[in-house]
Amino acid sequence: MGYSIAIAGKGGTGKTTLAALIIRLLKERKGGSVLGIDADPNNNLAEFLGVKVKESISGILDRVAAQPDKIPAGMTKDRFLEYQVQTIIQEDEGFDLLTMGRPEGAGCYCYVNNVLRNVMSGLIKDYDFVVIDNEAGLEHFSRKTTGSTTALVVISDSTAAGLRAAERISELVEELKIKTKNKFLIINRGDEEIDKEKINNRGLKYIGRIPEDPQLTDISINNNSVFSLKKDTASLAAMAGLLGKIITGGI
Ligand SMILES: Nc1ncnc2c1ncn2[C@@H]1O[C@H](COP(=O)(O)OP(=O)(O)O)[C@@H](O)[C@H]1O
Ligand SMILES: [Mg+2]
Repeated sequence: MGYSIAIAGKGGTGKTTLAALIIRLLKERKGGSVLGIDADPNNNLAEFLGVKVKESISGILDRVAAQPDKIPAGMTKDRFLEYQVQTIIQEDEGFDLLTMGRPEGAGCYCYVNNVLRNVMSGLIKDYDFVVIDNEAGLEHFSRKTTGSTTALVVISDSTAAGLRAAERISELVEELKIKTKNKFLIINRGDEEIDKEKINNRGLKYIGRIPEDPQLTDISINNNSVFSLKKDTASLAAMAGLLGKIITGGI
Protein backbone atom coordinates (compact mmCIF):
# COMPACT_ATOMS: atom_id res chain seq x y z
CA MET A 1 0.00 0.00 0.00
CA GLY A 2 1.47 3.33 -1.05
CA TYR A 3 1.84 6.47 0.96
CA SER A 4 -0.54 9.15 -0.29
CA ILE A 5 -0.10 12.84 0.40
CA ALA A 6 -3.10 15.05 -0.40
CA ILE A 7 -2.35 18.78 -0.58
CA ALA A 8 -5.20 21.15 0.23
CA GLY A 9 -5.71 24.82 0.99
CA LYS A 10 -7.18 28.07 -0.26
CA GLY A 11 -6.32 29.30 -3.76
CA GLY A 12 -2.90 30.89 -4.06
CA THR A 13 -1.54 29.48 -0.82
CA GLY A 14 1.11 27.50 -2.73
CA LYS A 15 -0.43 24.03 -3.09
CA THR A 16 0.86 23.39 -6.58
CA THR A 17 4.30 24.81 -5.80
CA LEU A 18 4.71 22.66 -2.70
CA ALA A 19 3.28 19.57 -4.44
CA ALA A 20 5.92 20.01 -7.16
CA LEU A 21 8.69 20.45 -4.56
CA ILE A 22 7.52 17.28 -2.79
CA ILE A 23 7.52 15.33 -6.06
CA ARG A 24 11.04 16.51 -6.85
CA LEU A 25 12.24 15.55 -3.36
CA LEU A 26 10.57 12.12 -3.49
CA LYS A 27 12.18 11.48 -6.86
CA GLU A 28 15.61 12.41 -5.49
CA ARG A 29 15.16 10.28 -2.37
CA LYS A 30 14.81 7.24 -4.63
CA GLY A 31 12.57 5.68 -2.01
CA GLY A 32 10.19 4.13 -4.51
CA SER A 33 7.82 4.93 -7.35
CA VAL A 34 6.12 8.34 -7.37
CA LEU A 35 2.85 9.45 -8.97
CA GLY A 36 1.74 13.07 -9.04
CA ILE A 37 -1.96 13.73 -9.57
CA ASP A 38 -3.10 17.16 -10.68
CA ALA A 39 -6.66 17.18 -9.37
CA ASP A 40 -7.24 20.86 -10.07
CA PRO A 41 -9.22 21.64 -13.21
CA ASN A 42 -7.12 24.79 -13.65
CA ASN A 43 -4.18 22.49 -13.91
CA ASN A 44 -0.61 23.65 -13.77
CA LEU A 45 1.22 21.02 -11.74
CA ALA A 46 2.67 19.69 -14.99
CA GLU A 47 4.20 23.10 -15.77
CA PHE A 48 5.82 23.29 -12.34
CA LEU A 49 7.32 19.86 -13.10
CA GLY A 50 8.38 20.68 -16.64
CA VAL A 51 6.01 18.12 -18.16
CA LYS A 52 3.86 18.75 -21.21
CA VAL A 53 0.43 17.21 -20.69
CA LYS A 54 -0.59 14.99 -23.59
CA GLU A 55 -3.95 13.83 -22.32
CA SER A 56 -6.11 14.41 -19.25
CA ILE A 57 -9.01 12.56 -17.66
CA SER A 58 -11.32 15.27 -19.00
CA GLY A 59 -9.91 14.67 -22.48
CA ILE A 60 -10.84 11.00 -22.24
CA LEU A 61 -14.34 11.86 -21.07
CA ASP A 62 -14.81 14.27 -23.94
CA ARG A 63 -13.56 11.68 -26.39
CA VAL A 64 -15.73 8.88 -25.05
CA ALA A 65 -18.76 11.18 -24.96
CA ALA A 66 -18.20 12.05 -28.63
CA GLN A 67 -17.72 8.43 -29.66
CA PRO A 68 -19.69 6.19 -27.31
CA ASP A 69 -19.48 3.32 -29.80
CA LYS A 70 -15.76 2.98 -28.96
CA ILE A 71 -16.70 1.34 -25.68
CA PRO A 72 -16.11 -2.40 -26.20
CA ALA A 73 -19.17 -4.63 -26.01
CA GLY A 74 -19.61 -6.15 -22.59
CA MET A 75 -17.65 -3.38 -20.85
CA THR A 76 -19.37 -0.74 -18.76
CA LYS A 77 -18.57 2.88 -19.50
CA ASP A 78 -17.05 3.35 -16.05
CA ARG A 79 -14.81 0.33 -16.44
CA PHE A 80 -13.74 1.54 -19.87
CA LEU A 81 -12.93 5.01 -18.52
CA GLU A 82 -10.92 3.53 -15.68
CA TYR A 83 -8.94 1.48 -18.15
CA GLN A 84 -8.36 4.54 -20.33
CA VAL A 85 -7.08 6.55 -17.35
CA GLN A 86 -4.32 3.97 -16.83
CA THR A 87 -3.16 4.59 -20.39
CA ILE A 88 -2.73 8.37 -20.03
CA ILE A 89 -0.46 8.33 -17.00
CA GLN A 90 2.63 10.12 -18.26
CA GLU A 91 5.97 8.66 -17.35
CA ASP A 92 8.76 11.07 -16.69
CA GLU A 93 12.20 10.45 -15.24
CA GLY A 94 11.66 9.36 -11.66
CA PHE A 95 7.96 10.14 -11.42
CA ASP A 96 4.66 9.68 -13.25
CA LEU A 97 1.93 12.25 -13.68
CA LEU A 98 -1.85 12.10 -14.09
CA THR A 99 -3.80 15.24 -14.93
CA MET A 100 -7.50 15.65 -14.28
CA GLY A 101 -8.05 18.58 -16.64
CA ARG A 102 -11.13 20.62 -17.25
CA PRO A 103 -14.04 19.21 -19.22
CA GLU A 104 -14.90 21.16 -22.34
CA GLY A 105 -18.14 23.04 -22.63
CA ALA A 106 -20.49 23.91 -19.85
CA GLY A 107 -21.20 21.66 -16.98
CA CYS A 108 -19.73 20.45 -13.80
CA TYR A 109 -16.72 18.28 -13.53
CA CYS A 110 -18.24 16.02 -10.91
CA TYR A 111 -18.08 13.21 -13.43
CA VAL A 112 -14.35 13.71 -13.84
CA ASN A 113 -14.15 13.68 -10.07
CA ASN A 114 -16.00 10.38 -9.95
CA VAL A 115 -13.68 8.76 -12.44
CA LEU A 116 -10.69 10.02 -10.49
CA ARG A 117 -12.13 8.67 -7.25
CA ASN A 118 -12.75 5.28 -8.82
CA VAL A 119 -9.16 4.90 -9.98
CA MET A 120 -7.53 6.49 -6.93
CA SER A 121 -7.53 3.47 -4.64
CA GLY A 122 -5.98 1.33 -7.36
CA LEU A 123 -3.30 3.93 -8.03
CA ILE A 124 -2.41 4.22 -4.37
CA LYS A 125 -1.72 0.48 -4.40
CA ASP A 126 0.37 0.69 -7.58
CA TYR A 127 2.80 3.37 -6.37
CA ASP A 128 4.96 3.83 -3.30
CA PHE A 129 4.07 7.54 -3.15
CA VAL A 130 1.10 9.42 -4.55
CA VAL A 131 1.01 13.23 -4.27
CA ILE A 132 -2.35 14.85 -5.01
CA ASP A 133 -2.54 18.55 -5.78
CA ASN A 134 -6.15 19.44 -5.00
CA GLU A 135 -8.16 22.39 -6.16
CA ALA A 136 -8.87 25.36 -3.93
CA GLY A 137 -12.51 24.55 -3.25
CA LEU A 138 -13.56 21.73 -1.05
CA GLU A 139 -15.44 19.88 -3.79
CA HIS A 140 -13.03 17.02 -3.76
CA PHE A 141 -13.48 16.45 -0.13
CA SER A 142 -17.21 16.84 -0.23
CA ARG A 143 -17.38 14.29 -3.01
CA LYS A 144 -14.82 12.13 -1.30
CA THR A 145 -12.60 12.03 -4.35
CA THR A 146 -9.57 11.98 -2.18
CA GLY A 147 -10.83 8.86 -0.45
CA SER A 148 -8.51 7.69 2.23
CA THR A 149 -5.16 9.41 2.39
CA THR A 150 -2.16 8.73 4.53
CA ALA A 151 -1.41 12.39 5.03
CA LEU A 152 -3.52 15.43 4.42
CA VAL A 153 -1.27 18.48 4.13
CA VAL A 154 -3.10 21.78 4.46
CA ILE A 155 -1.24 24.85 3.23
CA SER A 156 -2.03 28.26 4.67
CA ASP A 157 -0.60 31.72 4.97
CA SER A 158 -0.14 32.99 8.50
CA THR A 159 -3.19 35.28 8.50
CA ALA A 160 -6.15 34.60 10.77
CA ALA A 161 -8.42 34.16 7.73
CA GLY A 162 -5.99 31.71 6.15
CA LEU A 163 -5.79 29.69 9.33
CA ARG A 164 -9.57 29.64 9.66
CA ALA A 165 -9.83 28.25 6.11
CA ALA A 166 -7.27 25.59 7.00
CA GLU A 167 -9.28 24.73 10.09
CA ARG A 168 -12.47 24.37 8.02
CA ILE A 169 -10.77 21.91 5.70
CA SER A 170 -9.63 19.89 8.67
CA GLU A 171 -13.13 19.89 10.16
CA LEU A 172 -14.75 18.94 6.88
CA VAL A 173 -12.42 16.01 6.45
CA GLU A 174 -13.42 14.85 9.96
CA GLU A 175 -17.13 15.31 9.27
CA LEU A 176 -16.95 13.37 6.04
CA LYS A 177 -15.07 10.63 7.86
CA ILE A 178 -12.37 10.67 5.21
CA LYS A 179 -9.70 8.42 6.56
CA THR A 180 -6.42 10.22 7.12
CA LYS A 181 -3.62 8.99 9.28
CA ASN A 182 -2.30 12.50 9.85
CA LYS A 183 -3.46 16.01 9.14
CA PHE A 184 -0.57 18.42 8.84
CA LEU A 185 -0.42 22.17 8.50
CA ILE A 186 2.33 24.02 6.66
CA ILE A 187 2.53 27.80 6.70
CA ASN A 188 3.79 29.02 3.37
CA ARG A 189 5.47 32.41 2.96
CA GLY A 190 4.98 33.09 6.64
CA ASP A 191 7.66 35.19 8.22
CA GLU A 192 6.50 35.17 11.77
CA GLU A 193 6.21 32.24 14.13
CA ILE A 194 2.64 31.20 14.89
CA ASP A 195 1.10 29.89 18.07
CA LYS A 196 1.69 26.18 17.64
CA GLU A 197 -0.61 25.07 20.45
CA LYS A 198 -3.56 26.94 19.02
CA ILE A 199 -3.18 25.24 15.66
CA ASN A 200 -2.60 21.79 17.04
CA ASN A 201 -5.91 22.06 18.83
CA ARG A 202 -7.66 22.41 15.50
CA GLY A 203 -6.98 18.83 14.53
CA LEU A 204 -4.01 19.89 12.45
CA LYS A 205 -0.43 19.15 13.34
CA TYR A 206 1.66 22.22 12.56
CA ILE A 207 4.96 20.97 11.15
CA GLY A 208 6.63 24.17 10.05
CA ARG A 209 7.06 26.98 7.58
CA ILE A 210 8.29 27.47 4.05
CA PRO A 211 9.94 30.89 3.67
CA GLU A 212 9.14 33.46 1.02
CA ASP A 213 11.54 32.44 -1.73
CA PRO A 214 12.37 34.80 -4.61
CA GLN A 215 13.63 31.80 -6.60
CA LEU A 216 10.06 30.47 -6.72
CA THR A 217 8.91 33.80 -8.12
CA ASP A 218 11.68 33.53 -10.73
CA ILE A 219 10.66 30.09 -11.93
CA SER A 220 7.01 31.06 -12.11
CA ILE A 221 7.78 34.20 -14.13
CA ASN A 222 10.14 32.39 -16.48
CA ASN A 223 7.97 29.27 -16.76
CA ASN A 224 10.74 27.05 -15.44
CA SER A 225 10.19 23.89 -13.46
CA VAL A 226 11.14 23.15 -9.84
CA PHE A 227 13.97 21.05 -11.24
CA SER A 228 15.78 24.25 -12.13
CA LEU A 229 16.07 25.17 -8.43
CA LYS A 230 19.44 24.70 -6.77
CA LYS A 231 19.46 22.05 -4.06
CA ASP A 232 20.15 24.63 -1.34
CA THR A 233 17.31 26.92 -2.40
CA ALA A 234 15.53 28.05 0.77
CA SER A 235 12.07 26.70 -0.12
CA LEU A 236 13.36 23.34 -1.38
CA ALA A 237 15.59 22.85 1.66
CA ALA A 238 12.73 23.75 4.01
CA MET A 239 10.37 21.38 2.21
CA ALA A 240 12.92 18.58 2.49
CA GLY A 241 12.79 18.92 6.27
CA LEU A 242 9.00 19.01 6.35
CA LEU A 243 8.72 16.02 4.00
CA GLY A 244 10.73 13.99 6.49
CA LYS A 245 8.14 14.88 9.15
CA ILE A 246 5.25 14.07 6.82
CA ILE A 247 6.61 10.64 5.97
CA THR A 248 7.51 9.69 9.51
CA GLY A 249 4.15 11.02 10.65
CA GLY A 250 5.54 13.06 13.48
CA ILE A 251 7.02 16.30 14.58
N1 LIG B 1 7.26 30.26 -0.63
C1 LIG B 1 7.01 31.01 -1.72
N2 LIG B 1 7.79 32.05 -2.02
C2 LIG B 1 7.56 32.82 -3.12
N3 LIG B 1 6.57 32.59 -3.98
C3 LIG B 1 5.73 31.56 -3.72
C4 LIG B 1 5.91 30.72 -2.60
N4 LIG B 1 4.93 29.77 -2.62
C5 LIG B 1 4.17 30.02 -3.71
N5 LIG B 1 4.64 31.10 -4.38
C6 LIG B 1 4.06 31.68 -5.60
O1 LIG B 1 2.69 31.96 -5.35
C7 LIG B 1 1.91 31.75 -6.50
C8 LIG B 1 0.76 30.81 -6.16
O2 LIG B 1 1.27 29.54 -5.85
P1 LIG B 1 0.52 28.20 -6.29
O3 LIG B 1 1.40 27.07 -5.90
O4 LIG B 1 0.11 28.25 -7.73
O5 LIG B 1 -0.77 28.26 -5.35
P2 LIG B 1 -2.08 27.33 -5.37
O6 LIG B 1 -1.75 26.09 -6.13
O7 LIG B 1 -2.38 27.08 -3.93
O8 LIG B 1 -3.14 28.14 -6.02
C9 LIG B 1 2.87 31.20 -7.56
O9 LIG B 1 3.20 32.24 -8.44
C10 LIG B 1 4.08 30.74 -6.78
O10 LIG B 1 5.26 30.88 -7.52
MG1 LIG C 1 -2.69 25.12 -7.78
